[in-house]
Amino acid sequence: MNKLEMLKQLSENSPTDPTILFSLAIAYKYEQMHVDALQVLKKAQLHADLELSNLIQKEINAIDEDFAETEEDEQIEESGIRLINSDNTIKFNDHKKSESQTIDFSQVGGLDELKHIISMKIIKPFQAPELFSKFMKKTGGGLLLYGPPGCGKTFIAKATAGQCDAHFRSVKISDIIDPYYGVAERNVADVFSTARAKKPCILFFDEIDALGYNRSKISANNVRNIVDSLLLEIEGVDTNTDKLLIIGATNMPWDVDPAFRRPGRFDKSIFVQPPDQEARKVIFKLKIQDRPVGILDYDQLVRETNFFSGADIEYVVEQASETVLNLIFETGNENLVITQDVLMDTIKNTKPSTIEWLRTISTYLRYANQTGFYDDVDKYLSRHKGLI
Ligand SMILES: Nc1ncnc2c1ncn2[C@@H]1O[C@H](COP(=O)(O)OP(=O)(O)OP(=O)(O)O)[C@@H](O)[C@H]1O
Ligand SMILES: [Mg+2]
Repeated sequence: MNKLEMLKQLSENSPTDPTILFSLAIAYKYEQMHVDALQVLKKAQLHADLELSNLIQKEINAIDEDFAETEEDEQIEESGIRLINSDNTIKFNDHKKSESQTIDFSQVGGLDELKHIISMKIIKPFQAPELFSKFMKKTGGGLLLYGPPGCGKTFIAKATAGQCDAHFRSVKISDIIDPYYGVAERNVADVFSTARAKKPCILFFDEIDALGYNRSKISANNVRNIVDSLLLEIEGVDTNTDKLLIIGATNMPWDVDPAFRRPGRFDKSIFVQPPDQEARKVIFKLKIQDRPVGILDYDQLVRETNFFSGADIEYVVEQASETVLNLIFETGNENLVITQDVLMDTIKNTKPSTIEWLRTISTYLRYANQTGFYDDVDKYLSRHKGLI
């Protein structure tokens, strides 16, 4: 009797046991029997407690998402078949996830050095593999981005996909983790096989710290297994043939399992720092463009926004827009625009969200930078001594 049959029998004997039903649904899922999996998941949810119900919902969402993507691909392939080249060969439309299509490096303010590194480590080997092999330059390995929240880690990963016309697949480690034995490892395998099926693809692992050996929500053994299967998959990626590139991100680098940082894994780590004045100016301009504004003094805006993240700047611009809209509704004057005063008022009422992170890491650095891993952070902190 195989596992699926055994679980079917168990569920017939205990038709209201949510754990058995859940396991059966997962077994269906791995057999690609998604309709059955969904039916059983919904049945399991009726009898589950809150924690299990949340888990079940995650599975339902994941299957629904897979369905939506499959349908999208099928539609594109259908329309692609209609495109016949002059030599009678069939040409397929290039299809990318709409999310990554919309942003590229031009929408990312600052981070010039990071853009250059991504370009040399990820985009170029991807676009010109022959050149890299001619110079016997090794490609592969992942890039780990770390830094305070809201400074563009996720944003630049998405933009990388847009920049090289690749799919973007974002995976939260918390979505992979699963208390049921073996499920997390299967999740890891699934992530890589679906990404390979959708090449070229940027595979983005968010919250890589969630697998840190010192903050696991699940047993140490289980974490070890997940880390091992993830590392095995990462090491097994051949960038040239797989057309699969890996970026990881965390805002708690001190919690990242050091095993991730060895060669062939996330072998380059980059500090994504809060935007400097020049970068803040670019981000203000990017976020303000296309909105009705008066004459603005960008130099004053950037002077008053030390340690603001890109997300903080986005928030300021959003808030200022809301203020002006409120005024328009109050006064009936539709000609009002976003002014310097409105922006400056909003800035005064906004606290930079990177400070707390910078303080935490500066305390941490006092005793934990023996390997020099945090040298870039150290330099940044020294440059801003007395301000944090
Ligand atoms: N350098 C930047 N240029 C333009 N926009 C930015 C930049 N940095 C951040 N933003 C804006 O802030 C938002 C949040 O950024 P993002 O999600 O990339 O932060 P993060 O570093 O991944 O944070 P977290 O650690 O919380 O995940 C983005 O959607 C983007 O609109
Ligand atoms: Mg992020």
